[in-house]
Amino acid sequence: MPIAFWKILFLHLTIITGFCCCFRIKVNPNIPAIAKYFSTKGRYEEVNPYLIEDILAVNRSILQPPSAQCREIHLTAIIRHGTRYPTSKNVKKMQKLYDMVLRNASGKASWLREIQTQWTMWYTEDMDGRLVQKGVNDHKHLAVRLSKLFPSLVSEEKLRGGFIKFITSSKHRCVNSTLSFKAGLTELWAITDKEFDHAVNDALMRFFDQCARFVQEVDKNPSALSEVDQFKQGPEMRRVTEKIADRLTVPYNLITDDMAEAAFYLCAYEFAIKTVNSPWCRLFDEVDAQVLEYANDLKQFWKRAYGYDINRKSSCILFHDAFSRLDKAANENESGQQVTEAVTVQVGHAETLLPLLTLLGFFEDSEALTSKNFATQAQRSFRTSHMLPYAANLVLVLYDCGGGDLRLQPLLNEKPVTFPGLNNQQASIPRYQDVRDHYRELLQGCDFETECQLFKSPA
Ligand SMILES: *[C@@H]1O[C@H](CO)[C@@H](O)[C@H](O)[C@H]1NC(C)=O
Ligand SMILES: *[C@@H]1O[C@H](CO)[C@@H](O)[C@H](O)[C@H]1NC(C)=O
Ligand SMILES: *[C@@H]1O[C@H](CO)[C@@H](O)[C@H](O)[C@H]1NC(C)=O
Ligand SMILES: *[C@@H]1O[C@H](CO)[C@@H](O)[C@H](O)[C@H]1NC(C)=O
Repeated sequence: MPIAFWKILFLHLTIITGFCCCFRIKVNPNIPAIAKYFSTKGRYEEVNPYLIEDILAVNRSILQPPSAQCREIHLTAIIRHGTRYPTSKNVKKMQKLYDMVLRNASGKASWLREIQTQWTMWYTEDMDGRLVQKGVNDHKHLAVRLSKLFPSLVSEEKLRGGFIKFITSSKHRCVNSTLSFKAGLTELWAITDKEFDHAVNDALMRFFDQCARFVQEVDKNPSALSEVDQFKQGPEMRRVTEKIADRLTVPYNLITDDMAEAAFYLCAYEFAIKTVNSPWCRLFDEVDAQVLEYANDLKQFWKRAYGYDINRKSSCILFHDAFSRLDKAANENESGQQVTEAVTVQVGHAETLLPLLTLLGFFEDSEALTSKNFATQAQRSFRTSHMLPYAANLVLVLYDCGGGDLRLQPLLNEKPVTFPGLNNQQASIPRYQDVRDHYRELLQGCDFETECQLFKSPA
């Protein structure tokens, strides 16, 4: 549907609701009501809704260095690739669900007829997780916004001078995201006489593949995800599959948890890729979406986050890399030299960001996520829908505030955050030295080789 149409509709709704009652309901018919539960398949705009109206909007007043003389001297951005197609594995599941709905669903609802007679299964296995056009735009727009937020660092002068470095995972969707980020900048400044290269570095951006202990104990160990399996067999998930069966009017035993997940993905992908509120979304109400979100969060928790210590430790290499860039910039600045790497843009995966966020202590709840505590975890902070949409990013900005006063501001998805457990940082940005002290043990240890080696069985 053309943007202009819903803008007008939106305007009318706003005028009508604003006119005749005291509250305003912002109903955008193109956005599924369950869009905020799509976990790692979610749109970046859902975590920063102001972008829906203006995709290039930034709010510079969120950046509040302790004094007016503070200058940003270095920025590292670790960014997930943009919106992508489903992987071939998920396309297979979606196809299976679609075939079943065509054959066996006898419900009379209009949305069901729409699936059966108008919707076509346009996803093919060869799409295999490739970046889509929306994903190209995710990175182009993010590049422009970062240049507006940090104009002295993400600048034409710095780019032309070779002070902006690009590093990417070798996966096609990451390489293409990196190209898109660069295109965002070169198009912004109309640079046509020069190209800027990037380095492919899987040791850094896909450390999880190279950490033997993680691969053996978690990634390739089916029992590592037993909480996820139990949740999928449990009462909350059964209720979801039964409700889907009722809505389709098929026998309960026809809807597996895989099918429920595939339907959820269909709704999520149609929205993320094409910005449509597809009839597949009608298979879920908000509670169903919360259950499926929890199933996804459980999986991320046990496979990439607090579930096992090796998950976070597998990112030691990226952790040290980030701090060594900060140290280098700090040292260069202190010794009166030009900072040679003003900006580092590193493009990877949700699986790159989550272990690092975990290592730094973000989003840790007092209780672990388990198959049994869906209800009591309703207020958890560990919510991948908020943390890891497409193009999710962790940005670290180093400020020089004069007289050797260096500060470090972390931003997650363009919003300032505070390092968990680091005190005295309300209102102002922590001193870089305090951050280093806070993570002292990790800075002195957290050795990738040591953490990732397999335990040798005693001889
Ligand atoms: C910008 O951020 C500040 C501080 O969070 C907030 O008070 C203000 O309303 C925001 N402005 C806009 C235009 O969003
Ligand atoms: C689903 O439809 C197929 C093909 O029409 C049929 O063979 C099968 O028995 C149906 N299954 C159920 C459970 O209705
Ligand atoms: C990446 O971009 C190139 C050039 O724009 C395009 O030809 C290619 O199909 C893209 N690859 C993927 C995997 O998206
Ligand atoms: C550090 O960087 C700031 C901001 O660019 C600059 O004003 C200051 O002179 C630098 N410090 C030194 C010692 O060069």
